[in-house]
Amino acid sequence: MSASPAKSDVNLPDLSAFWMPFTANRQFKSAPRLLVSAKGMYYTSHDGRRILDGTAGLWCVNAGHCRDEIVAAVQAQAAEMDFAPTFQMGHPKAFEAATKIAKHTPGDLKHIFFTNSGSEAVDTALKIALAYHRARGEGQRTRLIGRERGYHGVGFGGISVGGIAPNRKAFSGQLLPSVDHLPHTLNLRETAFSKGQPAWGAHLADELERLVTLHDASTIAAVIVEPVAGSTGVLIPPQGYLQRLREICDRHGILLIFDEVITGWGRLGAPFAANYFGVTPDLLTMAKGTNNAAAPLGAVAASRRVHDTIVDGAPAGIELFHGYTYSAHPVAVAAACATIDLYEREGLFERAAQMAPLFEEAIHKLRGERHVIDVRNLGLVGGVELQSREGAPGARAYEVFVRCYQKGVLTRYTGDILAFSPPLIVDEAQLGEIFSTVAQVLKEVE
Ligand SMILES: Cc1ncc(COP(=O)(O)O)c(C=O)c1O
Repeated sequence: MSASPAKSDVNLPDLSAFWMPFTANRQFKSAPRLLVSAKGMYYTSHDGRRILDGTAGLWCVNAGHCRDEIVAAVQAQAAEMDFAPTFQMGHPKAFEAATKIAKHTPGDLKHIFFTNSGSEAVDTALKIALAYHRARGEGQRTRLIGRERGYHGVGFGGISVGGIAPNRKAFSGQLLPSVDHLPHTLNLRETAFSKGQPAWGAHLADELERLVTLHDASTIAAVIVEPVAGSTGVLIPPQGYLQRLREICDRHGILLIFDEVITGWGRLGAPFAANYFGVTPDLLTMAKGTNNAAAPLGAVAASRRVHDTIVDGAPAGIELFHGYTYSAHPVAVAAACATIDLYEREGLFERAAQMAPLFEEAIHKLRGERHVIDVRNLGLVGGVELQSREGAPGARAYEVFVRCYQKGVLTRYTGDILAFSPPLIVDEAQLGEIFSTVAQVLKEVE
């Protein structure tokens, strides 16, 4: 399908007041790209073009856009009860949504704490880790270990354990103390063009032993990693790496947190990456696909041990002094209930698993195209790394992103890496269109 021609008589709103997040505001406002409606696999742009969504919005619209059942649930909930507090009060949909989520979370991660975003879920998980050790009499375990290139949102906790340099730089004077980082796992010399999990790199998990020796286990509360690092440009964990992290954490009484804000809800063809890899963390964060991004929602799933230690171990009264006005907002959790029902009814995680080999084949066709120095993939997520232009890192991928958009395909870029994460309803023809458009654009850009 080729993109229809742009409408010339477009009325844009005044763009000056909205200070856009993670956006080059001046560049964007000089050549804006607005999306005005969405259905299934497609957006419609402000200039009237159909845009094939290669990124599920922002890694979040896993069931496809504006699904009737989710729209109806949001509308019904907004009309029935707009808001109810969950501090010392409750409403049925909050409990129902937690139960539905807990049906899919792995192991005994069956206690669900609601937040409004992935960033809040991360900061919540870090706080729960500290509270857990304190409740069991090891309050000196306060150190948090993240990983280079990790993205854990934008709260102070998240950017402290995160490892994306520009996200930390301006705030570097006030990051959390007592944080250390594992090395990231990307090494193009060893793993370029790997299909699925690279065979090389499990030994990088042993760096955790080095940090334990350096700091002493008795000071370390938790390790947090994305099972597949998404925002930094899709880094696939080496075979055996996550298993080894789990073993080392167990050996030293350190909690393992999986940040599944991207990998959760079917992205790898299983409910969570933890299910996919067969590694169960102690805490698991989610957001995005939890309710198909129909309203802001995040959550932390905690193991029985973590939950019971904090809740049963506390004196009478509030056990955890933490929460948000909008924790389990009725509209957000109503959307989650409808979304999870839809995932189950349509078997979308199984569908993602079935489509994964086709996705792999389609994305790896880009090997050999100009500028491409790596292609990597797992499930329905993939990254294509381009050679950076001399002295202008990120410029080439940005140009590819803009040109793909002009040709009717939404991609995402970070640095010089293009990222792909289509809704799980994507079909073979649409996969072909996404990657043939990228191939064409790669021939055009310098
Ligand atoms: C792994 C991970 N953690 C946390 C976040 C932050 O989520 P949010 O933007 O909803 O705060 C993201 C967002 O992309 C993410 O990918």
